[in-house]
Amino acid sequence: MNLKGKHFINLEDFSKDDILGLLDLAEALKKDVKEKKDLNILKNKTLVMYFSKPSLRTRISFEVGMQKLGGNAVVIKQDEIILGKRESIEDTARVISRYADGITIRTFAHSDVEQFAKYSSIPVINALTDLSHPCQIMADLLTIKEHFKKFNGLKLAYIGDGNNVTNSLLIGCSLLGIDISVAAPEGYEPDSECVLNAKKFASSSGAKVEILNSPDDAAKGAHVFYTDVWTSMGQEAEAEKRKEIFKNYQINTNLLKLADKNHIVLHCLPAHKGEEITEEAFELHAASIFEQAENRMHAQMAIMASIM
Ligand code: CP
Ligand code: NVA
Repeated sequence: MNLKGKHFINLEDFSKDDILGLLDLAEALKKDVKEKKDLNILKNKTLVMYFSKPSLRTRISFEVGMQKLGGNAVVIKQDEIILGKRESIEDTARVISRYADGITIRTFAHSDVEQFAKYSSIPVINALTDLSHPCQIMADLLTIKEHFKKFNGLKLAYIGDGNNVTNSLLIGCSLLGIDISVAAPEGYEPDSECVLNAKKFASSSGAKVEILNSPDDAAKGAHVFYTDVWTSMGQEAEAEKRKEIFKNYQINTNLLKLADKNHIVLHCLPAHKGEEITEEAFELHAASIFEQAENRMHAQMAIMASIM
């Protein structure tokens, strides 16, 4: 696996072997971190992190991960450079490329990240766009690998809004051979191009991809349950309307009765308990959910160590 200099923007750009290699490295780095080993893999390297949306996990896990790899991170908020407004994205990319060794971008339009990458001579990492959240899915896959020690023969049920996280889950699962059933209300299904790509990957990996409207159908026999907020960042004006539309798309102990005996629940967080997941189901599965949050750091350390 040689990924040096590659952007980490779309999971679609990586092969199954690349993803498996990154997950192996993430597991090894996690062990090193637990053993408090001195890692100097990114010594003297700087990661710039740009955010035009809030973040707890992404911001801290990247910054701490970078420190653990021997490098450092500089965080810039929306109001400081106002991506694409104060000056063009092309110029911003060419300037930052002169100072840093990698950049993470969290913003609204996916095309802004693609545009940045076109002019950037340093690797660009997608830290969430309206279309996708690939770093999250690397942590999710790591959590699944640790729990089940395999990918083939597993079924993941995603219940709720077909959003950025769902789009990336579709790609990650289909690449690795995990069956994925998404249950979303009509009109809130995942991005159609991501679904098409997932079906294409599934035909080589042997996975099954289903986009359904019924949570019960999606849940049957599932090993991994996954949900995310009904209202993503930037959609706040629709929150009340969405509460009504999504009210039956909830992970609760009743739905979990349809699961395989050996199942886990994942949530990318932040969670809105009482909406997409009940407090009871959340607390029953807090162990896997917070392991997943921790795994953001290990998965991203593997990504940075490989591409920077
Ligand atoms: N899951 C996730 O990306 O969390 P943050 O929005 O807090 O970074
Ligand atoms: N779908 C959510 C994910 C947050 C990590 C959002 O975009 O707000």
